[in-house]
Amino acid sequence: MRELRETRRGARRRPPRSRFPNPLREGLRLERVPDPSAFVLFGATGDLAHRKVLPALYQLWRSNLLPQEFTVLAVARRPYSDATFRDEVRSALERFARVQPLDATAWAAFAGRICYQQLDFSDDAGYDALGERLDALDRERGTQGNRLYYLATQPSQVTEVVRQLGRVGLDHEVHGAGWRRVIVEKPFGRDLESATRLNREVGKVFRESQVYRIDHYLGKETVRNLLVFRFGNGIFEPIWNRRYVDHVQITVAESIGVESRGAFYEETGAIRDILQNHLLQLLTLVAMEPPAAFEANSLRDEKVKVLRAVTRFSPEDVRRLIVRGQYGPGWVDAQPVAGYREEPEVDPLSETETYVAARLAVDDWRWGGVPFYLRTGKRLPKRATEIAVQFKEVPHRLFRDSSSEPDPNLLAMRIQPDEGILLRFAAKVPGLGLDVRSVNMDFTYGSTFVVGSPDAYETLILDALLGDASLFTRADEVEEAWGIVTPIIEAWAAMGAPDFPNYAAGSWGPEAADDLPARDGRRWRRI
Ligand code: BG6
Repeated sequence: MRELRETRRGARRRPPRSRFPNPLREGLRLERVPDPSAFVLFGATGDLAHRKVLPALYQLWRSNLLPQEFTVLAVARRPYSDATFRDEVRSALERFARVQPLDATAWAAFAGRICYQQLDFSDDAGYDALGERLDALDRERGTQGNRLYYLATQPSQVTEVVRQLGRVGLDHEVHGAGWRRVIVEKPFGRDLESATRLNREVGKVFRESQVYRIDHYLGKETVRNLLVFRFGNGIFEPIWNRRYVDHVQITVAESIGVESRGAFYEETGAIRDILQNHLLQLLTLVAMEPPAAFEANSLRDEKVKVLRAVTRFSPEDVRRLIVRGQYGPGWVDAQPVAGYREEPEVDPLSETETYVAARLAVDDWRWGGVPFYLRTGKRLPKRATEIAVQFKEVPHRLFRDSSSEPDPNLLAMRIQPDEGILLRFAAKVPGLGLDVRSVNMDFTYGSTFVVGSPDAYETLILDALLGDASLFTRADEVEEAWGIVTPIIEAWAAMGAPDFPNYAAGSWGPEAADDLPARDGRRWRRI
């Protein structure tokens, strides 16, 4: 796992942010820069490439985190020349680059490293030409045969591209000829069976150590900090278990609807889009045991154990412990918004869920009996991702006669926005009496470090270029996550959908979701 980065070159070039140096940023380790390499971007004309991947590469370049001998070979079906594709990248960066305006010098140098190769993903001859182009780039640009293939394609094209890369030998790591890695985007399969099949197909060509499956939540600064918080501090770990923790709530709330992705979302729904990956990944990081070492396989071994310990749902459990919802028309940010069924490319009778809440059990020594409540939804009142660890009541309520009794301790980790960590504890109200209240101790990234966080894609792409797979999901991990979710999807299919829509846009989801913790005498935290 890389540590906080700061380049000496980058630091010198950047304008100072403030006249006053930030003591918390002193002494950060200097960077490791990846090997010379070619970044081969399949699906380079698509939305993901424009919004996320190319802006992340540009930002890495601008921050001097990429080597001089670096090339982006954009691959897609549409006809472009190198020059016309560069113009398109420039327009994308003007909209989506994290730091605006573009830096003219950095852009000129970065643009010179972008090439375009037209390819029909199923055309055999096209892959031969691709191999020749990559060899030529190695000679002209010194990329030394190191290649990172990024599959930002439609999910249905992944198998074909991987098979073709294997057919022409572009996966081979011949001794001395450089490394070959492949990044595969989510969704990785749509149930256990398809994910297993996809793993098998990818595994016919690439070794597991060459495969980097992206879940961009793992690249978020605050998610990475969760590991530092848990395993870099001595005082939390001893209480991080069933003796002290009452329950855990993990929320991924979005105020946006499905935007222009209606067709995709119809096939996906909230459970495949967020719960199977982002929510379960957050769960693993909260619940895992300390890894033996801070490296990819040790970390992932522990995460897999958590997923294995999650109790599988019977159809009866699904009825009791999972709530799904779909938004109807309503108001978000004081604006009227359409219901899901009125969104573009959505079936007016759609039964796809846009909200899901679940009560999970991690049945192991540490967590036996501690419920994990997970929820996610679109068109909720605000965008907020948070992990809340609710501690148990004190064993003896010494201050029960106080005019207002304090709430039990709570630790809330705000993943986004207002990134930070809040600890709630009891304090005496100043005065002659003995009045006790809950107060908050609040750490916020923004005001503490006074520096912007990298985008998750910057972190993940740099890690893949450096050969660090810690923040990528392993084949067995993906399959275990599907092993939890697939019985739910199957039970839902057998039950038929509830009476959708069942929550108004701008509300916190269906009423039935409140019953989930309420049945256990708990409630969702107000975020
Ligand atoms: C994606 C989902 O994986 O994550 C989207 O497909 C969702 O539906 C997005 O909006 C949320 O990501 P973030 O980084 O905005 O929280």
